[in-house]
Amino acid sequence: MGARDSLVQWDDSYSLGLEQIDDQHKVLFDIMNHLWSAIVNRAADGEMLKILDELESYTVSHFTAEENFMQSTGYPNFDEHRKLHAQFVKRIHDARVELQQGKQISLDLLHFLRDWLVEHIQAEDRGYAKAYERGQHGGILGRFFGRLLRSS
Ligand code: FEO
Repeated sequence: MGARDSLVQWDDSYSLGLEQIDDQHKVLFDIMNHLWSAIVNRAADGEMLKILDELESYTVSHFTAEENFMQSTGYPNFDEHRKLHAQFVKRIHDARVELQQGKQISLDLLHFLRDWLVEHIQAEDRGYAKAYERGQHGGILGRFFGRLLRSS
């Protein structure tokens, strides 16, 4: 998929060294690309709603996986990170409600979601991944989740 026919493309520089988390981020990119394609091709609202539902539910499940990991490792910025997650989910949820009320999803919103996610991976997610690598594993539970996320 080229730059002109997708919203966002995976780059190895986004990798956190936690394979399952990287895979989840790739899925989020895929869903965003799917939504972008639906908007560009003027898909029906029902189709948009289906993709937005998928984006919301997958985002929630990804954030839950990350939050469990951060908590298990005793990551010090957990609360702040969780708040950012909640704000992002709310933005997606609001867009879903607006779509149900007849308002179109704008490309601007999609660009915002993409930029937010890419920057979040590079900054906040990298923060907990590095803390884990530095050995702040938080005991047996942290090591358990770490092993789980390293392999798929
Ligand atoms: Fe991968 Fe904190 O989101």
